Amino acid sequence: MKAIILAGGKGTRLRPLTYTGAKQLVPVANKPILWYGIEDLVAAGIVDIGIIISPETGAEVQAKTGSGERFGANITYILQDQPAGLAHAVKVAQPFLGDSPFIMYLGDNLVQSDLTIFLDEFKSKHLDALTLLCPVVNPTAFGVARIDEKGRVLQLIEKPKDPPSNLALVGVYLFNATIHGAIANIQPSARGELEITDAIQYLIEHNHNVEARQIQGWWLDTGKKDDLLEANRVILDTCLVTANDGEVDDSSQIIGRVQIGKNTKVISSIIRGPVVIGENCHIENCFIGPYSSIADEVALIHADLEHSVLLEGANVTGVRHRIVDSLIGRRAQIKEAPQRPKALRFMIGDDSQIEMIE
Ligand code: TTP
Repeated sequence: MKAIILAGGKGTRLRPLTYTGAKQLVPVANKPILWYGIEDLVAAGIVDIGIIISPETGAEVQAKTGSGERFGANITYILQDQPAGLAHAVKVAQPFLGDSPFIMYLGDNLVQSDLTIFLDEFKSKHLDALTLLCPVVNPTAFGVARIDEKGRVLQLIEKPKDPPSNLALVGVYLFNATIHGAIANIQPSARGELEITDAIQYLIEHNHNVEARQIQGWWLDTGKKDDLLEANRVILDTCLVTANDGEVDDSSQIIGRVQIGKNTKVISSIIRGPVVIGENCHIENCFIGPYSSIADEVALIHADLEHSVLLEGANVTGVRHRIVDSLIGRRAQIKEAPQRPKALRFMIGDDSQIEMIE
């Protein structure tokens, strides 16, 4: 059994961060999203992993993730020259996959579920495809499956106006080599992509064994800011281990589950967990509230924030308003005048969003 993780794509919904970096490397609880998928696969005993990369962000993904040694995996990088769809990514990976059955894992998805149960069932029932499903409140926004009482998939519909169920397709699929024949027989969709749902539909219509199973845990697609913040909240809630490798002075208060990295200084501040703070950060006269993840090299001075994710090297100084529900990019700076500002001065990239809320 092999696996491919899709880490190419356009990432339009996470602009402007994706102008300068791969969305799969955006950290959730200070760990790149992509790495959660690698760890899930390795935990299920799959170590031969191909990662699909794009020309724009491939080098960064490769440099950060490496050969797989740190995960106990053997990673091969596979270049997809354009984001022509999920099924196109499988096509590009065919030389790596050969005739092997494989798991396809979307690199911006987080799934809390033990993959071994699905792997065992896929093998023992000799299925051609097994899709994972998760109930959602807004099925019109997802690929949705219509299944019979035995779990056989009857139909897959992308973003249905009138959904046949509330079961959305999670970004994890199991296939055997028959999928390659199906992909060879489908045409690009109206949006110009080779759709994996069309390839699976082709298998269904040609009487192959396609089944679906509902996952028991949560599933998060981190493609947009609010989904990413939600993923951050869930991971901090469920996985954060308390540790302090930094220096916290006597006038600071650490409450609840908080992880502080090496060489990080916390001075006259209150940190109320769950919060993770990376290495080499400077935190002074701050309140850092629950569900915040602060990457390495961040400086926070006279800042007040909660439920936010700050990327490497960000700097927030003298902001007297509470920062909430925010995603702040690498090396971004937010500074406020000591008195009530007479004017605001910005240098903000394309597609940035600033909301002044009551
Ligand atoms: P999507 O989130 O569906 O697509 P996208 O990355 O282009 O994002 P957006 O809609 O914001 O523009 O892709 C799911 C995952 O699959 C994601 O990790 C990117 C990856 N992907 C590829 O590797 N190749 C592709 O051709 C496509 C479409 C996606």
